[in-house]
Amino acid sequence: MQLTYRPRRLRRTANIRRMVSETTLAVSDLIYPMFVMEGSQSYEQVSSMPGCYRYSLDILLKEVQEVAELGIPAIALFPAIDPSKKDHAGTEAYNPNALVQQTVASIKKAFPELLVFTDVALDPFTTHGHDGILSDDGVILNDETVAVLQKMAVSQAEAGADFVAPSDMMDGRIGAIRQALDSNGFEQVGILAYSAKYASAYYGPFRDALGSAPKSGDKKTYQMDPANSREALKEVELDILEGADMVMVKPALAYLDVISLIKANTTLPVAAYNVSGEYAMIKAAGQMGWIDEDKVVLETLLSMKRAGADIILTYFARQVAKQLHNQGS
Ligand code: PBG
Repeated sequence: MQLTYRPRRLRRTANIRRMVSETTLAVSDLIYPMFVMEGSQSYEQVSSMPGCYRYSLDILLKEVQEVAELGIPAIALFPAIDPSKKDHAGTEAYNPNALVQQTVASIKKAFPELLVFTDVALDPFTTHGHDGILSDDGVILNDETVAVLQKMAVSQAEAGADFVAPSDMMDGRIGAIRQALDSNGFEQVGILAYSAKYASAYYGPFRDALGSAPKSGDKKTYQMDPANSREALKEVELDILEGADMVMVKPALAYLDVISLIKANTTLPVAAYNVSGEYAMIKAAGQMGWIDEDKVVLETLLSMKRAGADIILTYFARQVAKQLHNQGS
């Protein structure tokens, strides 16, 4: 007898489709990146990221309340530093009374349950805009930078950060930061390693948000070559050996294959960063009326989950959380 297999049987009704669905996107998967700036009672929209703002701390706290009420489990904090506080070596990064440290302390006091991830990298704090210390002949000095990152991570832990997230791509920083945290009594503070972070043009709007674009050269001597995926496995392997609790692929959308590869090769949670340029493209097309923004956002984030991401950092977190609540999932 001739059997015809009919895959459409499993797509016939909404309940069947729901039952056989392989992937779900949930509010609990999301980390919302937020920008904080100096001052009070002020906020500014990031021009290349409609719907994203830099907030002064007092206003940020109100926004954070909404984020927490939406059930989003975590935020990632990035500071827009006053240019007068930047220097060649990024020393403001580990000032215990600086913007990030104060902000973390205020958020954890008001919303103790909300997880706060802090960024460990020097680019918001350096006059030259690089993630590390720049030598006179234009080289980013690895080990000198790692020593500063250790101090920076400890000062963030002191302020109350739940996870520190090194995004700098210096070699050996995960192990060094783990050691610094442990020897200062912060064994419980976790590390989300930006393990496979590529030298990407998709970061443009983020650099607008922080005024952190490199003044000279590019980041190709520390961030990864978009052509490489085996190298991503090596980076992940090293970060795990050095003590990472979670690993990340960044950007996400043009690197779904890398997410999938890493997922198949680690038991740690895998995070994906749906970066600023990915956000800007969808927002722009949505505003032009060229795509159905809400649907494209859900489909895009779902693709990251399907590829293997357990956690997604996304500027869409708030709008997606509202969408997911409205559709009752
Ligand atoms: C820098 C940093 C960048 C992002 C997060 N941390 C930009 C860069 O490496 O130049 C990008 C995030 C985004 O584009 O959304 N340490």
